[in-house]
Amino acid sequence: MKKLKIAIDGPAGSGKSTVAKRVAEALNYIYVDTGAMYRAVTLAALRKGVSMDDGEGLTELSAGIQLEFRPAEEGKGYRLYMDGEDVHEEIRSLEVTNNVSFVAAVAGVRRNLVRLQQSLTSGGGVVMEGRDIGTVVMPDAEVKVFLTASVAARTRRRLLELQAKGIMVNEEELQASIIRRDAIDSGREVDPLRPAPDSFELDTTELNIDQVVERILALALAKGARLDQ
Ligand code: DC
Repeated sequence: MKKLKIAIDGPAGSGKSTVAKRVAEALNYIYVDTGAMYRAVTLAALRKGVSMDDGEGLTELSAGIQLEFRPAEEGKGYRLYMDGEDVHEEIRSLEVTNNVSFVAAVAGVRRNLVRLQQSLTSGGGVVMEGRDIGTVVMPDAEVKVFLTASVAARTRRRLLELQAKGIMVNEEELQASIIRRDAIDSGREVDPLRPAPDSFELDTTELNIDQVVERILALALAKGARLDQ
């Protein structure tokens, strides 16, 4: 049975995580959230007081920490461990979210994390989500998807996600922070957010999760993947 590499890229709030997890489950592939790795380096920097404009310090930090996805004890999915500590929740804090784009713009950090990400892809059977997966991390992926959605739709999704966790935020501020993060992620010099030339671009503004998952699975099946029995 053919085990594919599936790359899912797109801006914040485009639905990547939910969709990538569902696709991985349906195919019984591993799921890798690369944004979580950039978030972990950011958390380490905040804890150690490394400045967000200290490229060398951040690069050194990213080389020195050990990152590992371990299966969640209860239920499905994976949790990210940094130096043996479960940081799954803490890397989603507002402070990390507001700083992660600066860390992700540092060439040395990207070099270290891309190497780690690539080490997880050998043999295929992986759904990896991020910003540069189809262009840099897995240019050989058989399926490349670039998800987009209007800023308003992405803000609404993030708002609902945060509200479900009991976190109340101002909608206008949230929208402004999404626009700011998009601008940094797309405008940076190293590996900016952009669709791979051979990617399938999907605007999810008017689609629900099931519809997006269905389309990606159809692409994977066409390339020889099999649904998990
Ligand atoms: O997907 P996310 O919101 O957890 O990503 C966090 C940040 O990391 C986001 O601002 C962009 C950056 N990122 C990146 O530059 N490259 C990746 N492959 C994944 C995320």
